[in-house]
Amino acid sequence: MVWPDDRLRQPSVAIEKVDDSIRELYQDLVDSMYAENGLGIAALQLGDNRRMFIVEPKLAGRPETDPPVAFINPEIIATSDEQQDSEEGCLSFPDIYVKVKRPLRAKVRAMGMDGQPFECEGEGLLARCLLHEYDHLTGKLLVDFVGPLKRTMIKKKLTKLKGAEASDAEA
Ligand code: NI
Repeated sequence: MVWPDDRLRQPSVAIEKVDDSIRELYQDLVDSMYAENGLGIAALQLGDNRRMFIVEPKLAGRPETDPPVAFINPEIIATSDEQQDSEEGCLSFPDIYVKVKRPLRAKVRAMGMDGQPFECEGEGLLARCLLHEYDHLTGKLLVDFVGPLKRTMIKKKLTKLKGAEASDAEA
């Protein structure tokens, strides 16, 4: 879903175990991420407040043919002092890019779809992606990194886009 939608700001809730409903959520995330050509997506972006996101396998350091990597109940356990500064996009902000300063490296601990804990350490784009998806689970969004003027511009652009989609659906 596209910002401003209140569901993007919901508090997220921890997942107790990987059951059929989590496997269903995982499949919805995979389908949505690939449909939009995203590198990652968080459950809150589908209006689901369970604490989980996925990352595209190649970016996460797995073989390209692997399924996307699920991060359930993720925690950021380390970040570097060294920073990176580049443009960032988000499926909830179509065609919007915002310059965001983030640590160059980040290490995340999470539970996988097999119910086992694992760690993932990323540098550059992977670190950025992990931190971006983690932000979603805390309700933090790209617009929180910009000033009030740019925020208003983004809101105007996305509200217009939403209006255009609504009239397409009516037609
Ligand atoms: Ni995003």
